[in-house]
Amino acid sequence: MSTVCLIPAAGAGTRLAAGRPKAFVDLAGQTILERAVRGVLEADVDAVVVAVPADLVSEAQVLLPDCHVVVGGAERSASVRACIAAATASFDAEVILIHDAARALTPPDLFRRVVDAVRAGAPAVIPGVPVTDTLKAVEPVGVGGPERVVATVDRSVLRAVQTPQGFAPDALARAHAAGGHATDDAGLAEEAGIPVTVVPGDLMAFKITTEWDLRLARMLLEATGVR
Ligand code: CTP
Ligand code: MG
Repeated sequence: MSTVCLIPAAGAGTRLAAGRPKAFVDLAGQTILERAVRGVLEADVDAVVVAVPADLVSEAQVLLPDCHVVVGGAERSASVRACIAAATASFDAEVILIHDAARALTPPDLFRRVVDAVRAGAPAVIPGVPVTDTLKAVEPVGVGGPERVVATVDRSVLRAVQTPQGFAPDALARAHAAGGHATDDAGLAEEAGIPVTVVPGDLMAFKITTEWDLRLARMLLEATGVR
């Protein structure tokens, strides 16, 4: 049974602001993208398709000789669709994973957990972690002023969602068929009426979004002695 992993890595990294697209920023001697792909390949995935900015295709091909590299789009969903098109043309996948390059430290066990749930019959599977902060709904008080609390949200029913997200190929095709813009693929599946199953996530699958996250990732790699 073959598993293909699609990696959207074509974002600009605006919030990280590191002077180059986020996936190509150094993380302890390798790019964020190389580290992400390394984690995927350790998890018994059969093929990897990566979407990168148009001007970084050749660089990505050199860095990732084992991956199929395509040009991404202006939004994450467009980059994922470019990967889906390439994967559909080249591989006969039975499980399709979609994984943010920016979640570079995701452990192989999490990939396996998601793949196992798809293989067990779930059409769409996402990792989720409990929310630990107290959450308040707020509204503005005037323009540019402080905010006022409207309600305390019940966090016990909330999950922070990660990747890899796993799909049966027909469910993923249906989710993306409408050309939606949800920030994750499970959001598109929900809009298409496909049931989405949640498995336990992993704190190491956090997304490198800001300079703070990059510092955390570097410290974690140093602490575990990973090269
Ligand atoms: N992504 C993509 N194509 C885009 C936008 C995002 O492939 N047009 C990818 C990113 O490269 C990243 C993942 O989607 O691996 C999650 O997106 P995010 O963390 O938002 O990354 P960026 O869009 O690069 O960052 P920012 O929003 O700060 O610009
Ligand atoms: Mg973004």
